[in-house]
Amino acid sequence: MMFDAEKFISVIHDLAHPDKSLCAYLYDLGALASHARNIKSSLPDRVNFFYAIKANSDLPILSALAEHVDGFEASSGGEIQWVRQNFPDVPLIFSGPGKLDTELELAILNNVTVHIESRFELERLLHIARHYQQPAEILLRVNPHFEDLRATSLMMGGKPTQFGISVEHLSDCLKMVRDNSDCLYFQGFHFHLLSHQLDAAQHLRLLSAYIEQAVKWKEEFNLVIDHINVGGGIGVNYKDIDQQFDWCHFSHGLNNLLIGAAKNIPKIRFEMGRYVSAFCGVYVAEVIDIKTSGNGTYVVVKGGTHHFRTPYAQNHSHPFKVIPVSTWKKPYSRPGLRHGKVNIVGQLCTPKDLLAFDEMVGEIRVGDIVLFSHAGAYAWHISHHDFLRHAHPQHIYLPA
Ligand SMILES: Cc1ncc(COP(=O)(O)O)c(C=O)c1O
Repeated sequence: MMFDAEKFISVIHDLAHPDKSLCAYLYDLGALASHARNIKSSLPDRVNFFYAIKANSDLPILSALAEHVDGFEASSGGEIQWVRQNFPDVPLIFSGPGKLDTELELAILNNVTVHIESRFELERLLHIARHYQQPAEILLRVNPHFEDLRATSLMMGGKPTQFGISVEHLSDCLKMVRDNSDCLYFQGFHFHLLSHQLDAAQHLRLLSAYIEQAVKWKEEFNLVIDHINVGGGIGVNYKDIDQQFDWCHFSHGLNNLLIGAAKNIPKIRFEMGRYVSAFCGVYVAEVIDIKTSGNGTYVVVKGGTHHFRTPYAQNHSHPFKVIPVSTWKKPYSRPGLRHGKVNIVGQLCTPKDLLAFDEMVGEIRVGDIVLFSHAGAYAWHISHHDFLRHAHPQHIYLPA
């Protein structure tokens, strides 16, 4: 999905007010829906597309996506309740480590498929399912080691981590499942070894390894498998926004992979977060001050990492545009800079409150607006909103 800043600019000009500095998230729901529709329509029939709501669980976002996805993925009891309150019938799956008994209970009673992270979690789920006499649909999340796995900047597996069941414990878990098949409805295996994948060919190789591994276990343990959940993990290139993950290459490759694979391989399910919602959102913040310190120039905006933690979390200088605001009616001077390198910082009392660094700008003045693109995923939802108790940004959803 290409990012279109123009759509936001007229709205931003309408929002800009001479007496009230601007700070807001804006989301283009039409662009989000059409991106999701394109993803779905390019996937082979045997592939399901779920959205991992942790990336952005705002209700307008979920509502815009609901008709284009096959379901949602939740990672906490709070997310399960949020989805069930608003979408009582949508297919829902539950992943993540450290599930509480209360959350497992909530899942069982709300018709949610559970991705099991450990043998103990399986034992607790079984106990709860027996107590309620309510069978539970489960997948086992496994953390295999693949010899030629190429690491990304965010690895959840393929090495010792807190995620998934280690392969040496798999047969023990499968025995428990088999011995309790009246109560535990085994659906298949779940893998999510990494996020931030930018290389389509590598991702195809990873999926192929997942499928091959799942089919081996199916034969070795004589299992019936409904589907393999291949996680999410497709990344967004914040450092070079014109070089995004090649979805076209990937979806063609996936079609070929599934056509070439043995007929009896199970269905595939994705649970993608970042790649679905990142492109539809922007974070905008007005310039409050511009100052130099030694040979550095600091542009201070109304906001910061307490609203928009993405650049700090991913350790990048976030892509932005300056939106000039021509009206200036203040009774004092207007600081500005032409053709120079800037660091864009927020209002927090920490040098870590850095949104962009060493970036060239044509012109920037106090009162202009900085628009950070690619801010629709893991942005507001991963930020420490109440640090310093600054006002929260506005959240504006442009209708489809
Ligand atoms: C189990 C699981 N599935 C899916 C996702 C979504 O990943 P992404 O946003 O990289 O697509 C995550 C993210 O942490 C995850 O932990």
